[in-house]
This record gives sequence, structure tokens and C-alpha cells, in this order.
Amino acid sequence: MSDFTSDIWNFYVIGIVVAGLITCIVLLWSQGSVTYTAGKTTGHSWDETLEEYNNPLPKWWSLLFYLTVVFSVVYLFLYPGLGKYQGYLGWSSARYNLGADGAVENVAGSQYQKEVEAAEQSLTPKLEAYLAMDIPTLSKDPQAMEMGGRLFQAYCIQCHSADAKGSKGFPNLTNDDWQWGGEPEQIKESIAVGRVAAMTPHPEMDDETARDIASYVLSLSGREVDQARRARGETAFKSSDCLTCHDPGIMTGRPTGVPSGNILMGAPDLTDSVWLYGSTENIIVEGIKNGRQNQMPAWEGFLGKGKVHLLAAYVYGLSH
Ligand code: HEC
Ligand code: HEC
Repeated sequence: MSDFTSDIWNFYVIGIVVAGLITCIVLLWSQGSVTYTAGKTTGHSWDETLEEYNNPLPKWWSLLFYLTVVFSVVYLFLYPGLGKYQGYLGWSSARYNLGADGAVENVAGSQYQKEVEAAEQSLTPKLEAYLAMDIPTLSKDPQAMEMGGRLFQAYCIQCHSADAKGSKGFPNLTNDDWQWGGEPEQIKESIAVGRVAAMTPHPEMDDETARDIASYVLSLSGREVDQARRARGETAFKSSDCLTCHDPGIMTGRPTGVPSGNILMGAPDLTDSVWLYGSTENIIVEGIKNGRQNQMPAWEGFLGKGKVHLLAAYVYGLSH
């Protein structure tokens, strides 16, 4: 009720509420003052003999109505309801206010804010204790994992889905296949600072070459493909820039020439049968021609170190 653009609406709302209350009281009072005259009817009759008496409301009945009026007066004193009046208790359901420049501000001291602060405070010692535990040990702690699971449901499922199995473009977190590394610290880094994956597009490549390369890529995970295409694809793959990113050897000193994934760039292993985008020729061609970009948001600034640590343990626990 604090965002009226003009005071007219403030008084308009107050006017309607007060007029409504007064009307109720007048109505109750006028009904209550009807006097009882034995045998007096309204003159209506149904089914020949069924008649309607004109008696006053029972006392207890009208008292209940008066109580609702008293309740609303007390309510309007304590809580917001009368135009801009904030209520004696200062209660607010608002989480944010729009500041003068339109920026979102937290409503300091609002009930919501206080509850959030109280919850955070009771949580802090627990999170600190968890932070002192290493990730594999923490992932075996049932209470911590229940909490981690709730955090995951709140912040992660819109992309990684409720069962953490991911979807097209969003990695499955329950298997042992990692774009950015599956060591506890690597998982934690993915969550804390986020990840940006970018595969360069190849718009200049002709369709036939892209299809040949797709055949070669599919053959790497043991799929039956046309051998002539596969051979042409292998040559094109190796003379294109694919291995710059997909070959782990280049940056890690492991054997080169095999596109078995590069966790420094988030380039997936092309030799396994786990697919981030899908394993049809068309999907692979589309990826080669248009490139692929995706981003895992950074969470440490928003959730803090403790919750990120807990989430890392939760994710680690999904495949261990
Ligand atoms: C807006 C969508 C989105 C949300 C929300 C999101 N993620 Fe991600 N996440 C991604 C994408 C996309 C990737 C893959 C990054 C890339 O493209 O390489 C990823 C990657 C990851 C990885 C690395 C996986 C690997 O194979 O190396 C982990 C771990 C992860 N996310 C955990 C989480 C957790 C925990 C949360 C909740 C706090 C979360 N994500 C929320 C989109 C999201
Ligand atoms: C600049 C680095 C880079 C280059 C060059 C590159 N890729 Fe990629 N590639 C990536 C990254 C990063 C991803 C993951 C994209 C994501 O997470 O959205 C990816 C994804 C893919 C995928 C999807 C894998 C899956 O599991 O669905 C295929 C297939 C692929 N690349 C093939 C190729 C081929 C073929 C070439 C050469 C024509 C190539 N890439 C060149 C970095 C690169």
C-alpha cells in the first residue's frame, strides 16, 4: 500500500473501508431495533400455510455480527488495510520495495526480512560445521544431504531437472561423466564461480563435410556408420579446429589426438556414449555449423561459501 501514485487513492480506499463498516453497523442496529409483535407476519405465504414472521434477529446472532465489526476495527488498527496506514505492528508481506530511482530495495525490518535473518542465523553454525568437513565425508552425512537436496530443489532443478539428470544442453549430474571435472574441488568450482562453455561455429563448412565429420564423431562411440564417410570425416575433423578444444592432451599432457574431453574448456568427451545435446547426425551437424554456447551461473555470491560447499557434496554424492 506504499506505492500509491497520488494521495487521492489513499483517501479513496480509507473512505470505502470506513463507509463499509458504518453501513454494517447501521444495518445491524436497524435490524436489532425491530420490536417483537407476537403473530405479526410479513404477509408472504407459501404452500398455503407456510408464513414468514417478522421477528428480530436472535441476540446471539446479531452479537456475532457486532463481533466481526469489532474484529475488523482491531485488525485495521494492527495491520495495513486503511490506505497508506502501515498498521501498528508494521507487518508487511513485501520482500522488496521500489526505491525512488526504481531500484529494488529490501524492506528492512519487514516481517519477511526478519524471518529470513532469523533462519540464516540459526543456519550459520551448522553451515560452518559442514564447511570444515571434506566433500566426500560430507556427502555421506544424511542430515547434510537432506539439506543439500532442498537447496538443489530450490536453485538447481530449473536447469538440471528435479532428478538432476539434466536435459538437452544441461548436463546430467548423476553419472560419472564430467564436462568440467568430477573431483570434489572441481565440482565445487563449477558451482561457486560458474562455467561458460563456447564452441566456435563453423558457418563456412559445407553440409557434406559437416555430415562426414558427424559420422566420424558417431563412430568414436562405437556407432555403425558408413565407412567412406567416416574416413573422410576423420580427415576433415583433424584438419579443422576440433582438437584444439576437444583434445585433452593439448592442455593436460595426456596422449593427444583423441577427442576424449577437455575439462579446461568444458568440451565434452566425444568418445563416450553420453551426449549433452543428442546423438543424431542432424544435432551434431547443427552444433558444428552454429556452434554451442551455454552457461552455468555462479552461486557463491548469492548463496555464500557454506551452501555452495553443501551443494558440491550433494552433487558429488549423486554419483558416489
Ligand atoms: C540457468 C541454468 C542453470 C542453473 C540454475 C544451474 N545450472 Fe549447473 N549448469 C548449467 C549448465 C548450462 C552447465 C554446463 C555448463 C556448460 O555449458 O559447460 C552446468 C554445469 C554444472 C556443473 C558441472 C557439470 C559437469 O559435467 O562438469 C555442476 C556441478 C552444476 N552445474 C551444478 C549446479 C548446481 C549445484 C546448481 C544449483 C545451485 C546449478 N548447477 C544450477 C546450467 C545451470
Ligand atoms: C572453441 C572450442 C571448441 C571447438 C573449436 C570445437 N568444440 Fe565442440 N564443443 C566445445 C564445447 C565447449 C562444447 C560444449 C558446449 C556446451 O556445453 O554447450 C562442445 C560440444 C560439442 C559437441 C556436443 C557433444 C555432446 O555431448 O552433445 C560435439 C558433437 C562437438 N562439440 C563436436 C565438435 C566438432 C566436430 C568440432 C570441429 C568441427 C568442434 N566440436 C570444435 C568446444 C569446442
